[in-house]
Amino acid sequence: YREQIPIDRGIDNTAKLLLEGYTYITNRRKRYGRDIFETRLLGGQKAICIAGEEAVKVFYDKEKFIRNGAAPKRVRQTLFGENAIQTMDGDTHQYRKELFMSLMTKERLADISELVFRHLEKKINSWQGQNQVVFYYEIVRVLTSVACEWAGVPLRHTELRKRANQLEALFDSGGAIGPRHWKGRIARNSTEIWLKKIVQQVRAGNLDVAPKTALYEMSWYQDPNGELLHEQIVAVELLNILRPIVAIAVYATFGALALYEHPLEKERLQTNQDHYIERFVQEVRRYYPFFPFLTARVRADFLWKGHDFKKGNLVLLDIYGTNHHPEIWNQPNRFDPDRFLGREDNFYDFIPQGGGDYYRGHRCPGEWLTIEVMKVCMDFLVNHVEYTVPKQDLYYSKIRIPSLPSSRFVMSNIKQR
Ligand code: HEM
Repeated sequence: YREQIPIDRGIDNTAKLLLEGYTYITNRRKRYGRDIFETRLLGGQKAICIAGEEAVKVFYDKEKFIRNGAAPKRVRQTLFGENAIQTMDGDTHQYRKELFMSLMTKERLADISELVFRHLEKKINSWQGQNQVVFYYEIVRVLTSVACEWAGVPLRHTELRKRANQLEALFDSGGAIGPRHWKGRIARNSTEIWLKKIVQQVRAGNLDVAPKTALYEMSWYQDPNGELLHEQIVAVELLNILRPIVAIAVYATFGALALYEHPLEKERLQTNQDHYIERFVQEVRRYYPFFPFLTARVRADFLWKGHDFKKGNLVLLDIYGTNHHPEIWNQPNRFDPDRFLGREDNFYDFIPQGGGDYYRGHRCPGEWLTIEVMKVCMDFLVNHVEYTVPKQDLYYSKIRIPSLPSSRFVMSNIKQR
């Protein structure tokens, strides 16, 4: 059967999307009582918005969708970079994806956990000497050091602040227009030049770098034709490692907020019965807004839910909305880590970092790493330091993308535990 799906009228609704942020799709799904509707975005292009488990399944069907040409230019100019894995399809994508997945071995994940803990511990002394510490900015810097060290990228102490600001700007600008977008563009140019020079040094034999690190593996990785990647592409893909590791700062800050908003959680984490910390981290990733939606284009015409998807149509998959979908989650707007107790893993209903298969599709290759790093950060906050949370504006917007508590989480009276 064919039917007319609901339409959000208007010649270009991009302004509404920017005004409503994470809630644009959800608001209309509620209004129309459907998980599918049509709109016009990004210069008036027809776009279909979908949400829910079945939507995730169809969105990750490679016969039906491609990614090339789907991400808006402003996102490629800041968040992703040009010609990055995010924009690839088919066998070339799968081959490149193996490179990313090969970096995520058990040993290398243990390495990064240890690095995070070591760098956090080193911070305690300087935090004890300060009246106030803004957790988000501190963790951005810690994770910048960690990311570079883990990836084999040399970083001088004097360079730390600058690179931390730039890596933060890359993900902070993904959903922005105006000055925040431009800051991201400048940061992208600068970081790509920085990493290109480092790749040149590696290839010239002027920089020692350990095998199994991202810098080594990406510098010497051969494409299916047996050729090295262009140094520009290596820089872009290295940023696809460094930037999102630093972005875990967003989840860590929301994790700190969750601990503050739900005081009982602290004790549960300290006892850590049945690996409570894992459920807590999953719930932080489900509950708080981060990646809002994904974009793809229709590969070839098909019919789904009564709608004719036409080749080239833009499709948006609602990540935030699916993680709060009432058919998947009981009381979705309650923070409740125990909802993950005994839950069956499913590739299509819990998608903070994308859905589907890691190797065959675009699902985030850094998801395990994110969970491990978050566990270390949360364990650190409850078991290794004590602090008070002074009066501040902890409100987080569901419009600004990415979202964060306004105050960026200020802490006082920090002491080692
Ligand atoms: C892809 C979210 C951390 C590397 C993605 C996608 C999402 C996402 C939503 C898109 C999935 C898709 O297109 O279907 C996040 C969030 C993170 C995070 C919220 C938390 C900070 C990481 C980390 C790494 C990483 C730590 C690497 C160390 C990547 C790469 C892709 C990706 C390379 C592209 C994969 C592909 O196109 O095949 N991530 N991610 N991410 N992520 Fe993450």
